[in-house]
Amino acid sequence: MCGIIGLTCIPGSTPDRPSLMVYRGLLRLEYRGYDSAGVASVSAESSRVVVLKGRGRIAELEGKYGFSKVDGFTIVAHTRWATHGAPIDVNAHPHTDCGTKIAVVHNGIIQNYRELRRELTSRGHIFVSETDTEVVPHLVEELYGKRRDIYSAFKKAVEVLEGSYAIALISVVEPDKIFFARKDSPLIIGLGNGFNFVASDIPAFLEYSRRAVVLRDYEVGYITPVSAFIEDLRESRPVDYTHRVRFIEWSIEDASKGGYAHFMIKEILEQPRALKNTLQGIEGDDGFRKAVDLLLNANRIYVTAAGTSYHAALYYSLLMQRLAGAQVVPFIASEHYSYEGVVSEGDLLIAVSQSGETIDSLVALRAFRERGAKVIALSNVIDSAIPRESHLALYTRAGPEIGVAATKTFTTQALALAWLAVSYALAVGRLTVSEAEGIRGELRSSPRLVSEIMPLIEDRARRLSEWLSARSSAYYLSRGVGLPVAMEGALKLKEIAYVHAEAYPAGESKHGPIALVSSGFPAVFVVPVDNYLEKLLLGNVQEMKARSAVTIGVAPLGTSLEDQLDYLLPVPRAHWALTPLTHTLPLQLIAYYTAVARGFDPDKPRNLAKTVTVE
Ligand code: AGP
Repeated sequence: MCGIIGLTCIPGSTPDRPSLMVYRGLLRLEYRGYDSAGVASVSAESSRVVVLKGRGRIAELEGKYGFSKVDGFTIVAHTRWATHGAPIDVNAHPHTDCGTKIAVVHNGIIQNYRELRRELTSRGHIFVSETDTEVVPHLVEELYGKRRDIYSAFKKAVEVLEGSYAIALISVVEPDKIFFARKDSPLIIGLGNGFNFVASDIPAFLEYSRRAVVLRDYEVGYITPVSAFIEDLRESRPVDYTHRVRFIEWSIEDASKGGYAHFMIKEILEQPRALKNTLQGIEGDDGFRKAVDLLLNANRIYVTAAGTSYHAALYYSLLMQRLAGAQVVPFIASEHYSYEGVVSEGDLLIAVSQSGETIDSLVALRAFRERGAKVIALSNVIDSAIPRESHLALYTRAGPEIGVAATKTFTTQALALAWLAVSYALAVGRLTVSEAEGIRGELRSSPRLVSEIMPLIEDRARRLSEWLSARSSAYYLSRGVGLPVAMEGALKLKEIAYVHAEAYPAGESKHGPIALVSSGFPAVFVVPVDNYLEKLLLGNVQEMKARSAVTIGVAPLGTSLEDQLDYLLPVPRAHWALTPLTHTLPLQLIAYYTAVARGFDPDKPRNLAKTVTVE
């Protein structure tokens, strides 16, 4: 996820210097990405676009380049969350054409950039970055050379792109226009008096304009200082947007959360998009094929992480054992010394870390490398320490996660690890091609499945959380592949609602834990789609009910436990391998609503940091 802002204005018509307005707007988009940033500008007499950009936070780059002091009356700017290419100066946006007469900022993933780059290079275009975005200015430059009309060239270029994009383009050819296109990544027009904005999100221009037009997929067009032109790319007809102008009443702070009360609930609800972007990344990245090769040549396979990421790691080990018949040893990263005695050359470690900076996981990785093991990293932050120190880096594309509690990064980790396990199982012949494609097909539908959950459970989860907020402890129980999900649910309730919660295998209750159960004790069951486990869990539910516990179940639609449970949170029925994708959102929601009911701020839980860089 990245942040884009563009402003075009009549000189003298703006309340502040245009570049200052853009700079202030860019700062408000920093929650969307912050590993590098840049600005490009043009004026009526420009022969080339001026571009200032580099690695680092926006305020740091302001000190270095003076973004807020750039001349020009048509300006675009970008703050990056790297998806293709490390966060280094040349990969920062804006990107330009060979003649530096066009500059582009982009948010999204251009899936066919490799072949476009190959074709353009073969026709003499010189590329300087590793990004997918850089194909856009070169494509427009080439098409403009033939059509001699920049908007026609821009539209044709957009038609060629596959994937997701929010694009803003400026040129010396028509210096008072900002051309835009939108598909799958947000882009909004902000209407001013004598000036107009285009931006990824409303906070970027809210200080200067409260009249917004939210662009829709396949809409392209341009803004001038006094007008906006929008058309539908598929039908090549102008769009009458006057009825779509919305007056925004939010405060700036609220607007940064997209109108949500907290980043955590925003990120819980962003999971369909995070999963979609991660899928695009997985299918466009040959790193997953290389990872299977490393797995096939490994003696022993280990997987390590901390916190929520450890739950994803444990899930991966269970999946590999059940799907692929492969022994994978999961361990908590801070306990790495317990395993070093058995690690040798030829072993393989998978290190899972959203931030890519968790010191426990980094130390475990280094210890295993010292003993000759190869390392694969799975991270959400390109070029962070753990991917950098690994032999192979795989990425989720959840976008920045601002809430301290991991939500969308957990489900995107599960998606990536499931894809890896299925690919390995196919490679070793434990899955046929049709079986593997069947599960991959369900993984591809995970964005839709997750988007179906909220309507099923929102009211129930809210009511249940009101009740749970008065409890002091809870059990989270499951079996098999449901266990990592139960562990994740228990961690969420602890870390943001401060209600003690313990997860353990449901079969263990009678070996001690059930002694703690008295009337009204919450017992949350995660019920995977698995007939055998469902029967066993039915017995565990009855065990708890016999002790007057309150039984809560996250279970697939049509479960046999339905009439046994005191509370049911139904989820879409899918392959058991998708359990973390289908069963986690209700547990995240319960923790979130319980925290709010108890008067806590879910975004800033006490004693916790988003990334733990101390051992
Ligand atoms: C989970 O909600 C917490 N934020 C924490 O447990 C986190 O998962 C853990 O610190 C690992 O972080 P990482 O994925 O960035 O390595």
